[in-house]
Amino acid sequence: MSAKAVEQVETRGKLYEGKAKIVYATSDPRLIVQYFKDDATAFNALKRGTIVGKGVINNRLSAALFERLERAKVPTHYLRTLSDREMLCRRLDIIKIETIVRNVVAGSLAKRTGLDEGTPIRQPIVELYYKSDPLGDPMLNDDHVRMLKLATPAELGWIRRMALRINGVLRPHLLKHGLVLVDFKLEFGRAGGRLYLGDEISPDTCRLWDRETRERLDKDRFRQDLGGVEEAYQEVYRRLVGPV
Ligand code: TMP
Ligand code: ASP
Repeated sequence: MSAKAVEQVETRGKLYEGKAKIVYATSDPRLIVQYFKDDATAFNALKRGTIVGKGVINNRLSAALFERLERAKVPTHYLRTLSDREMLCRRLDIIKIETIVRNVVAGSLAKRTGLDEGTPIRQPIVELYYKSDPLGDPMLNDDHVRMLKLATPAELGWIRRMALRINGVLRPHLLKHGLVLVDFKLEFGRAGGRLYLGDEISPDTCRLWDRETRERLDKDRFRQDLGGVEEAYQEVYRRLVGPV
């Protein structure tokens, strides 16, 4: 996409409002604007709340991580930061799969396996979930993905390889800043015959633990009513980007 096309874009009407973001159309049908809200939900929106300043942090942090991934040859939908809460992105046809990568046992994996939270995983695990609010995002395997025609086998192969490449970039980067990348969620989509990483990468979509104390510095503080939610998001931002 030419720099000029990206320069001249204007925001138009709302296309979609999700739990944490709003997507706007633009004057260019190939581009959208992602607006990051402070709203937080958990447990398929049974729990709702606000994390003050989260939108600004997630917008800026996602931008920094997308830029790092692009340098490592991961194609992302991110094009440019427009404001504190808005980024310009390629418009993707989102694949209805949530891809989760895990380096340490936590959350639903602890529940499913009975292993203690914090158990290291020798070889990172990739899991697939059906992105469907009415169904509550159930787990899928490759055969289910084929049956539901959510992605072709070639696309799924690419998604799995890319998910591990992203983990290979983010995990050491975060560790250098004192953060253990426990697990994270990715979404991918198609545009112009290619696949891109979409959505966001933030403490909403990653589990991040302090390397020394194992303190939770992510949305689990909101999910589990641990307190200090805003402070945790600010701490992650400070370590990875700079002063809040
Ligand atoms: P889980 O342990 O609850 O399956 O979550 C795994 C990772 O995925 C964790 O980093 C949080 C993230 N996640 C989302 O981004 N959105 C979701 O709806 C869920 C359930 C998890
Ligand atoms: N945001 C998701 C929801 O409301 C879940 C989560 O992140 O825990 O269901």
